[in-house]
Amino acid sequence: MSLIDLVLLKSRLGDQAGRFDVDALDECDSTNSELMRRAERGAPAGTVVVADRQSAGRGRRGRNWLSAPESSLTFSLLWRFAGPLSRLSGLSLAVGVGLARAMETLGAEGIGLKWPNDLLLCDGDRHAKLAGILVELSSDRRGTQAIIGIGLNLMPPAGDLPQPAAGLSQACQHLPERHVVLAVILRELAGVLETAAVDGFSGLKTDWQQRHAWQNQIVEILDEGAVQSCGRCLGVDDEGALLLETAAGIERIHSGDVSLRRA
Ligand code: BTN
Repeated sequence: MSLIDLVLLKSRLGDQAGRFDVDALDECDSTNSELMRRAERGAPAGTVVVADRQSAGRGRRGRNWLSAPESSLTFSLLWRFAGPLSRLSGLSLAVGVGLARAMETLGAEGIGLKWPNDLLLCDGDRHAKLAGILVELSSDRRGTQAIIGIGLNLMPPAGDLPQPAAGLSQACQHLPERHVVLAVILRELAGVLETAAVDGFSGLKTDWQQRHAWQNQIVEILDEGAVQSCGRCLGVDDEGALLLETAAGIERIHSGDVSLRRA
């Protein structure tokens, strides 16, 4: 039986329950892939697939995403927007703001954001990844569809990981119950997605910037492991592009395919 009880989740969603159509699975390949198939068959906006286990969980840049059922929360949310894909640059940063707000509502301290869309737990100079976001967009003549996938560590993950990782249990005095966590995230996501639909990312930029973990720090932009540029990180613009002050002037980095590390 799945770790998510739909009746309990509905009660935690309260007056927002009608906005979401949630399905809880023991296992699937990837909640993003499963939701994409359902979207192709006409699933409505607000459909959510949450799974205890993913056999082929996907991360950014073609990476795998590994998660453990008891100690993480993995789900995807379908949202639809009027208008073309080009109006939604910065959507994954907007999702980061929603996720950060949710963590703070749950009592988490030290939440930070790393461009383009990692959620971090920050303690002084140490930053560990708390959650990953994978937004997949597609559009046709009716508008744009977003599959928003989130993998959140409730407990610190074990094992050999490519970067330091943390769990929500380390950010809160008491780890909130998982139905509460999912309900609070869904509510906050609906809020930022509504803002993004009207104002684009610009309506959320200040919120993102306030939580930017590497503001004014010297960073390197890596493309397939090779340093592409280096400079002072000035934050983001209205489209969600990263602004980097380099010797040659201010560079705007658009591609989510690059990665960022502190120099
Ligand atoms: C990243 O940081 O690389 C993004 C990770 C996103 C993982 C989530 S888990 C739920 C959803 N389904 C997937 O296959 N991926 C996303």
